Amino acid sequence: MDGPAASGKGTLAAGLAAHYRLPHLDTGLLYRAVGRAVRNHVDAPDFEARAIAAARALDAAHLAVPDELTTAEAGVLASRVAVVAEVRQAMRQYQRDFAHQPGGAVLDGRDIGTVVCPDADVKLFIVADARARTERRARQFEARGHRVNREALYAQIEERDARDRNNPHGGFYPADDAHLLDTTQLDIEAALRAAIAIVDGAMARKEKP
Ligand code: C5P
Repeated sequence: MDGPAASGKGTLAAGLAAHYRLPHLDTGLLYRAVGRAVRNHVDAPDFEARAIAAARALDAAHLAVPDELTTAEAGVLASRVAVVAEVRQAMRQYQRDFAHQPGGAVLDGRDIGTVVCPDADVKLFIVADARARTERRARQFEARGHRVNREALYAQIEERDARDRNNPHGGFYPADDAHLLDTTQLDIEAALRAAIAIVDGAMARKEKP
C-alpha cells in the first residue's frame, strides 16, 4: 500500500493486516527512525553520510519509540533522508525480507508497489485531498493533547508531498497494476471496507484458473 502523508494508508494497512491476520510493517517508521538519528546534523556537510550510516545500522530496536517518531517534524526529517539513494537501498532488503515471510504481510509506504514489492499480490495506492489530510492529521495530534496550527501543518504536508513526488530515487507513483482508492470523502470504516473489497476482488481474480 502506498500513498502520501496522512492519506490514511497507515490506518488502512493496519486494518487490512488485522482483517487478514497478517503482520504489518509501516515503512515510514524506518525513514523516520533514520531522520531522528541525524536530527542534530541537518545542516552539516556530512548529513548524507550520517544518514547512510544510520540506515545501515537500523534495527527493530530503533522503531520502539513511536511517539517521537510520529511527530510532524519527524515526518519532514524522514523525507529529507529519504532522497538519499543509499539510505533507500540500505532499507530495501529489510522491507523485502518482511514482505516475503511465509504467509505474506502488509507493508505501507511510498514505493512498496513500484520498488520494494513489484510482484505483490495486491497493490493499493491511496489518495486524498491535501486539506482533508491536514484536517485528519490535526485531529490525531489534538487527540494526543497537542495544540495544532493547521496552516503550518498544511505547509509541512505540502513540503513533504513535493519532496516525495520529486524524489528521483523515490518510486512514489502508482504502479501500473495498483488499485487507486480516494479516501477524501470516506471515513476510516468506509475506506477499510473499500480496501477489503479491492483485495478480495483481486485475490478472487488471481485464484481463478
Ligand atoms: O509514511 P510516513 O509519513 O511515515 O513517511 C515519512 C516519510 O518517509 C515520507 O514523507 C517519505 O519521504 C519517506 N518514505 C519513503 N518511502 C517509504 C516510506 C516513507 O520515502 N516507503
